Amino acid sequence: MIDVAKIRKDFPILSREVNGKPLVYLDNAATSQTPTPVIDVIVDYYSKYNANIHRGVHTLSQEATDAYEQARAKVQHHFNIAKAQEVILTSGTTHSINIVASGFTSLLEKGDELLVSAMEHHSNIVPWQMLCERTGAVLKVIPMNEQGELDMGLYRELLSDSTRLVFCNHISNALGTINPIEEIIQEAHEVGAAVLVDGAQAAPHIKADMQQLDVDFYTVSAHKICGPTGVGMLYGKEEWLGKLPPYQGGGEMIAEVTFEKTTYADLPHKFEAGTPNICGGIAFGAALDYINAIGLTNIAAYENDLLAYATAELLKIEGLKIYGTSENKTSVISFNIEGMHPYDIGSILDKLGVAVRTGHHCAQPIMDFYKIPGTVRASFSFYNTKEEVDVLVACVKRARNMLA
Ligand code: ALA
Repeated sequence: MIDVAKIRKDFPILSREVNGKPLVYLDNAATSQTPTPVIDVIVDYYSKYNANIHRGVHTLSQEATDAYEQARAKVQHHFNIAKAQEVILTSGTTHSINIVASGFTSLLEKGDELLVSAMEHHSNIVPWQMLCERTGAVLKVIPMNEQGELDMGLYRELLSDSTRLVFCNHISNALGTINPIEEIIQEAHEVGAAVLVDGAQAAPHIKADMQQLDVDFYTVSAHKICGPTGVGMLYGKEEWLGKLPPYQGGGEMIAEVTFEKTTYADLPHKFEAGTPNICGGIAFGAALDYINAIGLTNIAAYENDLLAYATAELLKIEGLKIYGTSENKTSVISFNIEGMHPYDIGSILDKLGVAVRTGHHCAQPIMDFYKIPGTVRASFSFYNTKEEVDVLVACVKRARNMLA
């Protein structure tokens, strides 16, 4: 059970006003808010032990290194990752995907096939298109249906001995659909293909177990799960990370450097060139502690209630259509009202204190599929309330009346 009144006290930003109205923050799929225990960790780091890591013998550097490596261990434990060296701390999902896409340049040949789902964020499309340009590999799309679900029959037909990689999000940022990644992974493995799952939207709702999923790569951004921006995870099976060349060269990722030849550091440091986001990494660990103290099962149950309530109430509004109607979805509602531009609705909602995202949500192929310019997207977190859903619904009605 969730004590939402108590939880809300942990989020100072939730008590501010926007345009003279109490803030109703419903843009959680873009970024989540940060609770005081995580903010405290950030202040503590810069107040007490700000130093570079893995480099100094001095006390501050050792304290920072210990805290950073403890955070890596928290990430490892949270996602049930077998080995600490399989946890690469990155700047977020986009960075994580680019490490893998860049690394596959030397592992692909002309005519190799890559499968991408039809409902990806641009960050899980563009790096692979660039990889295809470099290698002559071919990108094929797993189609989706009107409900925003992948066509698994066509997925099976697309899989072949030429398939090298499959990439798919765990949850769609634009539609909220939870994809059947267990099946996707298992069937890709049957033809010898590797799978990368973009877990950016899943992390705040589902505790993904890397060993149980047997996934090859999985990516997360801390800011979607109550952590800071600019830090995230690339999980990779050790055997794959061992095969991929480094993404960036620099300090920290080397074993030895001479002008004749450089040898690379062992995992995970081979993929962690330069000074990382030290404070962000430590705060990422604190965010996982915070989420785990509430429990992702409790969070998902609470959010599912909010989703059902909000869906039912919004659908009472004349002309309102929801995109992404799978039974299997999380607390994201993308919608439009007939004859009205999503941007206009979003702007009116903002004037009334309600924060939603409008536009194509960095997923233009989904908008092309539905033949729309974009949607209004309300995305709910465990700190939102039914009263806030009521405010959203009342404000959408008001916007509708103003624009009619
Ligand atoms: N990917 C983020 C979103 O869906 C930014 O809004």
